Amino acid sequence: MTSDERSCVDPPGPPAEDPPAGVDRGDRLHDFRGPGIAVTWSRARCTHAAACIMNLPVVFMPGRRPWIDLERGSAADVARVVERCPTGALHYRRADGGAQEAPPAQNTVTVTHRGPVYVRGDIEIIDESGQRRLTDTRAALCRCGCSAHKPFCDNSHLAAGLDDEGVVRDAGPVSDPGAPDAKLRIRLEAGGPLRIEGPFVLRSADRRTVVPGTRVALCRCGRSRNKPFCDSSHLRARDAGA
Ligand code: SF4
Ligand code: FES
Repeated sequence: MTSDERSCVDPPGPPAEDPPAGVDRGDRLHDFRGPGIAVTWSRARCTHAAACIMNLPVVFMPGRRPWIDLERGSAADVARVVERCPTGALHYRRADGGAQEAPPAQNTVTVTHRGPVYVRGDIEIIDESGQRRLTDTRAALCRCGCSAHKPFCDNSHLAAGLDDEGVVRDAGPVSDPGAPDAKLRIRLEAGGPLRIEGPFVLRSADRRTVVPGTRVALCRCGRSRNKPFCDSSHLRARDAGA
């Protein structure tokens, strides 16, 4: 995406109540029930990354009705595969005494090749008006600026032509002033970047760069010349009236 392409950053929305853990505000979840486990799926957050289909195809089969058939797998296998869903579209609740999903020991922020940024951990997303929008363990966040479902990825980067390989060449923008607790807080700046605060490890798409830190601003307008980091191009675009 070049700097003279249109900006796709949305204006802030109205204040709203905290949604339950794992549920984006206003999202409609699809429920599936099976022996010892219940699964929810968010169509809006699914980017068809296919981790579920590849890892447990007898249970997760697109085109079949229901496409998630929990009778065909054990609760333990379903839970293991649901936790591999990078977007947080899938969640489970075990009713067989098995362990529920817990945040991983380390928060990770993974930039993908020409795609979203995947976050995993003890995540809290705070919207442009300071309201908590989501608490979760997994999310895929738009960094092309064109998603119709921001801050989440909806695969708009494919049509937008996000031309960034996700390689971190200079980790200078990652700072480490310390974090008050173990949470990974992602603040959505109106018209600006994802401000990430909390202990994390930032990984580049090629896995060659792994940078620990507690503070970073990632571009989500698609204009930065120092992706994945914000370089204030969104301000220049705004001042230019783009
Ligand atoms: S792993 Fe998650 S994002 Fe990927 S297809 Fe399955 S539900 Fe959708
Ligand atoms: S959000 Fe893209 S340059 Fe700041």
